[in-house]
Order: sequence, then structure tokens, then C-alpha cells
Amino acid sequence: MKPISIRLRLTAWYVGVLLASLTLFGVAAFLAMKKGIEKSVDESLEGQAAGVEEVMGRVLQEEPARLQDELREHQELREQADFLQVYDQDGRWIYRSRLMTHYEVPVPIKGYFAYNVVSVDLPLRVLVRAMSAGGATYRIQVAAPMDDFYDAIDRFKWMVLLLSPVLLVLASVGGYWLSGRALAPVDKITRAAQQINSNNLEKRLDVPRSGDELQRLSQTLNHMLDRLETSFNRITQFTADASHELRTPLALMRTTTEVSLRTSQTIADYREAQKEILAELEKTSSLVEKLLLLARADAGVETMRRDVVNVADCLRDACEDGKVLAEAKHLTFLEDIDAKKLFVEGDSHALHRLFLVLIDNAVKYTPTGGSVSVRLTQSNGSGIAEFRDTGIGISADDMPQIFERFYRADKARSREFGGVGLGLSIARWVAEAHKGSIEVQSTPGTGSVFRVHLPLLES
Ligand SMILES: Nc1ncnc2c1ncn2[C@@H]1O[C@H](COP(=O)(O)OP(=O)(O)OP(=O)(O)O)[C@@H](O)[C@H]1O
Ligand SMILES: [Mg+2]
Repeated sequence: MKPISIRLRLTAWYVGVLLASLTLFGVAAFLAMKKGIEKSVDESLEGQAAGVEEVMGRVLQEEPARLQDELREHQELREQADFLQVYDQDGRWIYRSRLMTHYEVPVPIKGYFAYNVVSVDLPLRVLVRAMSAGGATYRIQVAAPMDDFYDAIDRFKWMVLLLSPVLLVLASVGGYWLSGRALAPVDKITRAAQQINSNNLEKRLDVPRSGDELQRLSQTLNHMLDRLETSFNRITQFTADASHELRTPLALMRTTTEVSLRTSQTIADYREAQKEILAELEKTSSLVEKLLLLARADAGVETMRRDVVNVADCLRDACEDGKVLAEAKHLTFLEDIDAKKLFVEGDSHALHRLFLVLIDNAVKYTPTGGSVSVRLTQSNGSGIAEFRDTGIGISADDMPQIFERFYRADKARSREFGGVGLGLSIARWVAEAHKGSIEVQSTPGTGSVFRVHLPLLES
């Protein structure tokens, strides 16, 4: 089924609600009018009957023989049409007006009070009342013609019935126009949003200063575009940096191969060249592995295991590798890891990798003769792994950037050590995936301390 536009739906609702209101209003007004008229007619009939009763009471006491004449005189004094008939308990007519005779208004069988409508040619509303006087019972019957009233009600009914469709048509046209006007800014936003693509991600929607939902919608979309632009730029930058980093070792390998092919004469020369190429290949695979890991982490594909891991074991393992690295550089390596078991929920491989990144940095950025120490402590439900070195330190200017991808404080020096600037990005991602954090303190020329906080499992 084709979806119906909001504009049409709004109009349909509008017309539907109006139709229901009109129907409700019509029925209620019709009933109120009818009841109101009948009530006032009934009151007037009551008055009339009471008047007749009073005359009869008086005449029957004073001169019963003049009853008919008195009733006629009484009726003639009234200005309304004469609808009165009176009869006694034996059903004999005491008085019967010409109109009552003409319309053959029947004698009610029984009942002290009865309103009804006799539909002959003329709708009548009739009141019957009984009275006793001088040992006899009489029935007084008065009536009022209802034709004018019912005509008026009828006219009203037709007016509502004929006017309603006209009103409904006007309302649908008006409603359609109004909802179109109300939704026009949405169309504008849609058109503007359609224009935005990866080539002009810096473009933003116009924000109407109306303080309403549409202003909020445009602002929300603009904030979304801000976030998209930031990630998009980051990805573009990442790709550019990655390609750049790959180009250098590839160029090196190519040159080494070409030179070796051209100039090598002995097997030893070839071996030397092969060794250089192998070293570059190792660096490149490590780079590609890091890139892949970060790309998978960004895409949300790389997921952490959720095992119970003893951080102390994990850190001890990393220190084994660290010792080898430190020895190669003639550094003192100190290890102070709590014998206690500290458990976290997470991935032991990832944690091992995180610790190794920090040990690797500490070793890499500490000159020969210095020292690297690793400590594990516990505080406030967190395990804290501390990596302290007596190395070159990090300047205050570099500090905010060191966790960014491909950031190296000293590019040339770092590359010399085989660094590409991805270690700390990976470390931070792992720590955060374990709901932990990393903090740094450093004094240039004196050394640095990196501390990893990891929330512990409750025993
Ligand atoms: N312990 C440290 N002492 C001094 N500088 C450091 C230390 N750790 C990191 N840095 C600085 O932070 C930068 C980023 O570190 P990161 O580990 O992310 O990259 P990297 O070590 O250069 O390369 P890799 O991706 O191989 O780890 C380093 O280039 C270095 O300048
Ligand atoms: Mg590093």
C-alpha cells in the first residue's frame, strides 16, 4: 500500500474530528431544542388546565347550570386557539370546543396526567387532568398545536444537514492548506539535507529561530552532521596517514632490492640485503596488524572477550617480554607485582598487548643505562598497573596528543626506534573497552609514569 503523506493524514484527522463535533452538536442541539419547547408548552398547558379547574370549581358551587356558558366565556377571553374539552365520569361532554371536535381528539381512557401527540393533520400536545366537585368527577383536556414548533425544529435539522457538507468541504480545503503550510519547513529541511554528501560535509542546515520542534530538528541534524564530519575527517586522515606510513618501508625495500640486484657480487652481499628487507617486512607487518586492529575496533567488529582474568598473571607475562627488550638496551628492569590475585572481566590477550605497549614505550624512550619499573597495586576497587621510566619524558605541548593515532613527539627519532605512533591509541582503546583509563605524568629529561586503572571484579 502506498504510504499516505502526513499532510493528507492531518487533513483527514481534522475533517474526521470536525465531522464528529458537528454530529454531536447537531444531535445535542436538536434534542435540547425539542425538550425545551415541549417543557414550555407543558407549562402553559398546566396553567391553562389550572385556570379551567378554578372556573369550574367556582361555577359548580355557585350556578352549576351555567357551567357550559362560563367555560365558553372563559375560553373566549383567551387569545389563543381554543383547544379544550371537559367531560364527566359518565363520558358526557360538558364542553367541547370546535377545534377539538374538528380534530376528533380522543377521550383518554384513563390517566390523570398524560402528554401525548395526536397525529391527525395537526400534531397536538395534550394534557388531561381530573377534578372532583359536588360528588362528581370531571376530566379536563387541554391541548396545544405543535406544528409551528416542529416546523422550526425541522428547519433547523435541515439547515444542519445541508450546511455540514459545505463546512466539511471548506474544512478539508482549509486543513490541507494549513497542514501544507505547517509542513513546508520540513520539506525545506529535507531538500537541504538531500544536498549534503561526503564532498560537502561541512555544509549545515539553516536553523529557523522559531523556538519550536523544527528549530530543534535542524539543530539536532546539524549536531549529527558535526559528529559525522569529525569521524569522516578522522577516517580520511587515518587512511592518508596509514598509506603514508606504508609507503616508506615499501620504498626502502624496493631500493634495497634494486641496489642489491645491481651491485651485489657475493652471497654475503645478497644475505645482507635480504636481512634489511626482512627487518622492513617485520616492521610493515607489525604496522599492518596494528592498522587492522584499529580499523576493526572502529567498525565494532573487534570484540573483547569477557573472561575472568588475573591482571597480575597477565602483567607478569608482559614483563617477561619486557625484560628481554630492556636487556637488549642495557636497562635495569624492576618488577613489583602483588602476589595477590586481582581479577578483572576482560580479554587476557588484549590486556597483555596493552601492558606490552607501555613497557615497549618505556624501554624505547629511555636511553641506555636508565631503568624501567613495573608495579601493580590495588586501590578503591581498581587495579593500578604503573610503568615508570627514567627516559626522555614528554613535553607539556605533546602531552595532549600522544594518544592520537600516528602522533609521535619526535617523528624522526621515533621512526628510528620503529615507532609509528599507534601504540598508545591501541592501549587507550583496550583500557576503555575494560571500562578503565590511562593517566600520564612526565617531566622532560627525567622520565615518565603511565598508570592504567582497571575496575576489579568483586572477589
Ligand atoms: N614512556 C615514554 N617516554 C617518552 N615519550 C613517550 C613515552 N611513551 C610514549 N611517548 C611519546 O608518545 C608518542 C606516541 O606513543 P605510541 O606508543 O602511540 O607510538 P610509538 O611508540 O611512536 O609507535 P608504536 O606504534 O610503535 O608504539 C611516542 O612517539 C613518543 O613520542
Ligand atoms: Mg609505542
